[in-house]
Amino acid sequence: MTTKPNRDIDHLIGELNILAQISEAEPPVVTRVVFSEADLRARAYVKGLFADAGLTIREDAIGNTFARWQGSDPDLAPIGTGSHIDAIPNAGLYDGCVGVLGGLEAIRVLQQLGFQPRRSIELIIFTSEEPTRFGLGCLGSRMIGGVLSPSQATALRDKECRSLDELRTQAGFSGSLDSVALARGHYHQFVELHIEQGPLLEQEGLDLGLVTAIAAPASLRIQIEGEGGHAGAKLMPGRKDALAAAAELILALESAAKSTGVIDTVATVGVCEVFPGAVNSIPSRVRLETDIRDIDAARRDRVLTSLHEACSDVSGRRGVVITTELVNADPPATCDPVILDQLEASAIAAGKSFKRMVSRAYHDSLFMARIAPVAMLFIPCRGGVSHRPDEYASPEWIGAGIHVLARTLASLAS
Ligand code: GLV
Ligand code: MN
Ligand code: MN
Repeated sequence: MTTKPNRDIDHLIGELNILAQISEAEPPVVTRVVFSEADLRARAYVKGLFADAGLTIREDAIGNTFARWQGSDPDLAPIGTGSHIDAIPNAGLYDGCVGVLGGLEAIRVLQQLGFQPRRSIELIIFTSEEPTRFGLGCLGSRMIGGVLSPSQATALRDKECRSLDELRTQAGFSGSLDSVALARGHYHQFVELHIEQGPLLEQEGLDLGLVTAIAAPASLRIQIEGEGGHAGAKLMPGRKDALAAAAELILALESAAKSTGVIDTVATVGVCEVFPGAVNSIPSRVRLETDIRDIDAARRDRVLTSLHEACSDVSGRRGVVITTELVNADPPATCDPVILDQLEASAIAAGKSFKRMVSRAYHDSLFMARIAPVAMLFIPCRGGVSHRPDEYASPEWIGAGIHVLARTLASLAS
């Protein structure tokens, strides 16, 4: 593709804003939990845009949605792109959505230029990249990549004990989960556009990040059973306060992550449920959900080991019972040098500045890497802010990402 795309970015920004209005929370806050009414309305809106662009839509049994622009040689493995449109509670409007609507815009740019792909281009909305409902991220891409088996998926329950099967069926996705996994080679290549979710590109004044590797995430659920009682009458000696025990674990995890001495190790306790949750009652039970990541899986695992050691230590000293459940411990993904070179050539041709970098956030590409060569294209986001309502990417940044994605898709599909 030699001609510069000349579509007006305002149209796409308008679509992003309409999508952001479809939220379980009062706009501008975006909350779109998988299989919620908002998720289904958002899917319907985006599928309407796909249909308007003449794409052929297929949905699998977990709700992954594939919109195909047929190539002139439809027997060739397609080029994949896309991301997610679910959003964590209290989120913004760019995470994931830029990759889906930006992917659509890249296709529309190419269509407008009269480009005819040889390989089909398939734009994907992945189901539940966010772990909000089932405690496990990237459900759709995990299943496509064969990392989450149908029986493991069937065992998943949300906080209300509703099963994935019940919720997906109610949402209209009722086929057999056995059909979700795709074979290696199903896609020739896969490339995902996403906001950086960190500050580096903006700080360095760069248009784009070419992602060379995606960090390895792990999550451990911890349940602490102590002993409840009256907050006034029960004296301090002999207490088995589950929240005080949890506090020690939270600090132990923070210290284990810091002690690697490497900036790439991060650990977070993002969920802390306290029972019974009354100000005058000693907490008898606490549930923690932890998130530990590193680009080096072995170093990440050493932090996990320290957390397990802290659990035994705290349980012994405080007389509380601590049980743990490893939700996931995924390996990192390495991006494909051929796609990276193509992204670089496209960025140079488009006159955009860039650098190669790692992704500390996880993405559906982490699991698409199990079945296809992948790479990711990052655009800056203001202040590195993400997973917050004030997340922001400027129209210029988004436009640059789409321009380079369009050039890259055109080359990969030729
Ligand atoms: C994805 O949303 C992540 O938490 O990295
Ligand atoms: Mn996210
Ligand atoms: Mn995302």
